[in-house]
Amino acid sequence: MRYMGLIQTYKDYLPVNERTPLLTLQEGNTPLIRAEKLSDELQLDIYFKYEGLNPTGSFKDRGMVMAVAKAMEEGSRTIMCASTGNTSAAAAAYAARGNLNCIVLIPNNNIALGKLAQAIIYGAKVIAIEGNFDRALEIVREITAKHPITLVNSVNPYRIEGQKTAAFEVCDQLGEAPDYLAIPVGNAGNITAYWKGFKEYQAAGRSSKLPKMIGFEAEGSAAIVRGEPIPDPETVATAIRIGNPATWDGAVNAARDSGGQINFVTDDEILHAYRTIAAKEGVFAEPASAASIAGVMKLHKEGYFSKGQKVVCVLTGHGLKDPNIAIKSVAGGDPLVVKDSEEAVMAAIAKLEGE
Ligand code: F0G
Repeated sequence: MRYMGLIQTYKDYLPVNERTPLLTLQEGNTPLIRAEKLSDELQLDIYFKYEGLNPTGSFKDRGMVMAVAKAMEEGSRTIMCASTGNTSAAAAAYAARGNLNCIVLIPNNNIALGKLAQAIIYGAKVIAIEGNFDRALEIVREITAKHPITLVNSVNPYRIEGQKTAAFEVCDQLGEAPDYLAIPVGNAGNITAYWKGFKEYQAAGRSSKLPKMIGFEAEGSAAIVRGEPIPDPETVATAIRIGNPATWDGAVNAARDSGGQINFVTDDEILHAYRTIAAKEGVFAEPASAASIAGVMKLHKEGYFSKGQKVVCVLTGHGLKDPNIAIKSVAGGDPLVVKDSEEAVMAAIAKLEGE
């Protein structure tokens, strides 16, 4: 049967009624790919929930389809969000689909090229502020409180509702929840959503157990780990360059109630994981996504896991979102330019093989 999108598929678990439009770009239904080499190396059973294969290339489509459908149901004409890039891409696409206006606020010079391109081509009004994501979110909250504009950041509860469906899919794909769910943490909406999804699916008799939730911030923006907001967050993983997560409590509760933890990974660990999964597993995810893998590698070194345990790593966004980082992060990343002759190409192959 043809997949009808997330709202139709999970309507029994979502705040959907007869007036809710069945908006869809066929989001969700993403693959769970086994990490063959990493599993062997770490003596674990590791899977990637590859959210980069959503219609705009990130998990944000799950929450956005729900938030925009509800905005349409409520007669809203305009949606608005602050974003490190992926939320704005998803908001712009679903607004286009649902004939709404879309305004996005982004931190100037700190969003990946692909994400900026998406917001522009889908027709959103794109405003870059001289400030970071946290400041952008404050401004959006102020404006949407005063004007008839729907806020579609993950503080909008419909976002969390849509995003929890990824946990349902993981359970259905494995037959039950895994032992661990590893996930990057930025604004902390997604870890909150997954935990809600796992609990609801277990309560509905669809999974016999719950996973331990292990969330990973980037070291330079690890507000939750440090226990205080960070005024000037910094990390190569611009998607999670967030110093004051809006759903802070949700992340803390998920980690505590599941018996997991919130930890951090360095930029070097993120980039190492990022290159490793692309070059060894053939899976290209953006740097922020690789925080989940980097976190598993870090905890593995500390002896945290038992042999053979099942770990699902959420790869939140597609690698093509941030092509500049990909090229920069591999030594000699730019291609070798040679003459257009067989000899020159053979000489180049020999040179590259010698490296
Ligand atoms: N991974 C990616 C690729 C993201 O874009 C984000 C968040 C996260 C992880 C973290 O998820 O915020 O729910 O903890 N991106 C937001 C945005 C902030 O604006 O696109 P979270």
